[in-house]
Formats: sequence, structure tokens, C-alpha cells
Amino acid sequence: MKRPNWVPAGTDLDKPNAARVYDYYLGGSHNFEADRQMARRAMELWPDLPAIMRSNRAFLRRAVQFLAERGITRFLDIGSGIPTFGAVHEVARTIRPEARVVYVDRDPVAVAHSRLLLKDDPLSQVVEADLRSVQDLLARPEVAGLLGAGEPVALMLVAVLHFVTDEEEPGKLVATLRDALPPGSALALCHASTEGRPDQAGPHQDLYRLTPTPLTMRTPQQITGFFDGFELVEPGVVYLPEWRPENPLAVGPHPERMTGLVGVGFRS
Ligand SMILES: C[S@@+](CC[C@H](N)C(=O)[O-])C[C@H]1O[C@@H](n2cnc3c(N)ncnc32)[C@H](O)[C@@H]1O
Repeated sequence: MKRPNWVPAGTDLDKPNAARVYDYYLGGSHNFEADRQMARRAMELWPDLPAIMRSNRAFLRRAVQFLAERGITRFLDIGSGIPTFGAVHEVARTIRPEARVVYVDRDPVAVAHSRLLLKDDPLSQVVEADLRSVQDLLARPEVAGLLGAGEPVALMLVAVLHFVTDEEEPGKLVATLRDALPPGSALALCHASTEGRPDQAGPHQDLYRLTPTPLTMRTPQQITGFFDGFELVEPGVVYLPEWRPENPLAVGPHPERMTGLVGVGFRS
């Protein structure tokens, strides 16, 4: 297919990609036929998927609001994706107009589109880097600058760590990031769990093997373990809709069907 002019040269548009499949679930327009085909196959197996992605995005918003209300003005959003709507800087600035955000993603398409959207925003920066090369990520001038001021930073790892395999040692990556955070910093995390819908874990992980970033769903114990060295705020690690809902009715009778486990903690 013809490459749109905002897509970097060399991008393989015939292979589905996690950032663009997610964009499709959210109703965005930055996805291609291969992404839509994979998303449609996934939705046939698991019709709740678009609702899960919306629930994830709503958690991101509530977590950013909570952190901004707690005084945080610096955000490091790793695996930021394509900022379709409700991006971190937009939400944070409703409370902290001075909020700075560094967006990091490994996908050149997500990065190119983020740069286009944020080109006139002096307080937001976009970095193409891989969470799995964490030392390289931390050495990037934009990231080092955000962390180096000594002010608290919110590390956002929302729906990204499940794209890191066990062999790539996600716990060590999170610990390295934690140790680079100034005092008073926080972690907000969402991770696909094996337990909400155990029947879907196998087929869904199989589909993501088609992308450059296979999916590893994890147990509640493994996900809670990522908060080592952080003090979790109430209600702890819970399913997506259960984390500080704006309206108790929004939780619904089956929050586990949203499958993502989430939490927010401050560096202890
Ligand atoms: C499901 S999207 C989540 C986007 C956003 N955080 C949200 O929750 O709305 C996952 C994003 O993580 C990115 N990603 C996956 N593996 C990554 C890695 N190793 N380093 C950086 N980004 C990664 C993908 O490119 C994609 O944009």
C-alpha cells in the first residue's frame, strides 16, 4: 500500500503493530489494513477488547489526574502510543498548566505522529527508545533532563510491560527506572493479567505473536511485584474499573472482565 507522508520511510505497513492495533480499538485513524485485520480477528475471539482498551485509557486519565492533584508536574510516559485523545499532557494540564511530559515509544509511527501533534508544545518532548534498552532510554537528553531537575516524576507504564517477555526481565527494568526517579516520584502501571479471562489468555497471546512485540499476560502476584520499592495508594492493585472510579456504578458487576490490573504507588 502507499505510505502516507506522516509515516517514516522503511515502516512495514503489511505487518500489524501493537500501537496501531490499539489505535484502531480506540476508534483512531492511525492504523493500516494489517492492523485492522488483526484487531478484527482478535475481536471475533474476544468482543470485549475495545471496551478493555477504553477502560485502560480511562484509568490513564484518572491516574494522571490523581498524580497532578498530588502536586506532580513531570511525567515520563513510556509506551505512550499514538496520543489519540486524552493524552497525558492534556489531562495533567487541566490541573497543572505547567506540566511537562516526555513521551517514549519504540514504534517509529507512534513517534512520528506524536511529534507532529506536539510540535508547537514547548513542554512536551517525544523520544524514540525501547524500554528494554533501559540505560539507553535513561541517557536520552530529554529523559535525563526531566529526571535531573530533582523534582518528583510520575513514571507511566500503562499497557506496555506486557510487551516485555520474562527473558527480558521486566522486574529489573522497572527497578532500574525506579532507582533513577527523584524522591517523591510515583509509578502508575497497567498490565494484562492472566486471571480476569483465563480462557482468552492463550488465543490472545498467539495473535500478538504476529507483531514485533509479543504479549505476556501475568499473574496478580507478578504484577504487584513491579511495585517493589513503591508504596501503593488505596485501593492497591485492582482491575481497571475498580481503581478510584469517578462513579461507583462505572465499576459494573464484572470488573475482572476488563482483565487489566492497575495500581499507583509512590517511591518509598
Ligand atoms: C497498548 S499501547 C499503550 C499506549 C498508552 N500507554 C495507553 O495506555 O493508552 C502500547 C504501546 O507500547 C509500545 N511499546 C511496546 N513495547 C515497547 C518497548 N519495549 N519500549 C517502548 N515502547 C513499547 C507500543 O509501541 C505501543 O505504542
